[in-house]
Amino acid sequence: MTKRLAIGIIGTGGIARFHAEAYLKLDYVDVVAVADVVPGRARQFADSLGLIGAQAFDSHEEMLKLPLDGVSICTPNVSHHRTSVDALRAGKNVLLEKPMSVTLQQAVEMVEASQASDKMLTIGFQPRYDPNMKKLQEIVQSGRLGNVYYVETGGGRRRGMPGGTFIRKDLAGAGAMADIGCYSLDLALNTLGHPRPLTVSAFTSNHFGTNKLYHPEADKFEVEDFGIALVRFENDLVLQFKISWAMHMDTLGPTIFLGSDAGLKITSAGTGPWSGVWDGSIGSMTLFHDDFGGHTETRVPLIEHSVNLFQAKVHDFAEAVRDGRFAPIPGQQILIQQAIIDGVLRSADQRREVSVELPASLI
Ligand SMILES: NC(=O)c1ccc[n+]([C@@H]2O[C@H](COP(=O)([O-])OP(=O)(O)OC[C@H]3O[C@@H](n4cnc5c(N)ncnc54)[C@H](O)[C@@H]3O)[C@@H](O)[C@H]2O)c1
Repeated sequence: MTKRLAIGIIGTGGIARFHAEAYLKLDYVDVVAVADVVPGRARQFADSLGLIGAQAFDSHEEMLKLPLDGVSICTPNVSHHRTSVDALRAGKNVLLEKPMSVTLQQAVEMVEASQASDKMLTIGFQPRYDPNMKKLQEIVQSGRLGNVYYVETGGGRRRGMPGGTFIRKDLAGAGAMADIGCYSLDLALNTLGHPRPLTVSAFTSNHFGTNKLYHPEADKFEVEDFGIALVRFENDLVLQFKISWAMHMDTLGPTIFLGSDAGLKITSAGTGPWSGVWDGSIGSMTLFHDDFGGHTETRVPLIEHSVNLFQAKVHDFAEAVRDGRFAPIPGQQILIQQAIIDGVLRSADQRREVSVELPASLI
């Protein structure tokens, strides 16, 4: 008989609903508890989703006293650290929403808590479940591009600034660079095989978020709505990474990989004002190479699929817990991108290039 899993959800705002709905599709999972710091919100969430019998809590600490197999953490970025460390120390497996954390130190402590408790910490980057992401990784790691020396990634929304918890420094910790930039960084780093960053030089601004013309909560807007960073890695590789939540432009361009033998251009899927930034599926992949006596462009055939990426990540976590597998997207792997985001925030603040120090024992 299949083992039943008891799952809890911490933070019952916008994205928690997608976690709950994905769990509800699994006949071996029971969502038995939900928690939110806003009194009454967790109860309302459970009732609205028909989570029959689920207990509701106003603090995650109380909820973690229950015998749970795993928790989804869906709180704003800054509290990812505390909630996941507490959950891991309480012996729960953790599916944590992106971005992993705000600072590198927080991410390090989270990985240490996972190792000490021997419980899984997996980070919810659902685009990894697009089969074309695996294809992209295979192409780059096959050596087809030769020596990859430059990657440019990111993108921009002409207008697409969130509000609420996403724009407050004490809750979000960072703006566009962490919120949607983390997807672009994951695409680049996972494709490249997680190279080690050495330095970051970044610039950020918030001309749109702080302007009442463009944002209804301009007086509360404390994070960046635009950012750009140059990241140097070991082995003479550089990454240019740029993101905007708002700008007077239609696009900041595609993701490109330049190699000594070929180049690869990736565009995001979808249309509309929010599609200019890569935070979902792959729309096209084109290889640029010299063959047949001239410059050649080969459109890489995409794998047609109907994978619900978000559901796939939640189901993979549940299956991994049920089957005792390793974390599908281990926190340890995401330490590298967290080191870059940490470097971006420090560099932008200090207005100069900064070094990135990764804890040797964890990488
Ligand atoms: N993977 C995705 O596609 C995706 C999409 C949107 C958001 N997210 C991520 O999910 C997280 C939450 O985003 P959201 O849109 O749901 O935000 P939200 O503001 O709608 O909801 C967050 C909820 O967490 C609660 N909360 C805050 N601190 C808490 C704590 N310590 N314990 C319990 N509850 C707490 C808040 O009261 C709120 O109800 C963010 O980190 C965001 O980046 C991921």
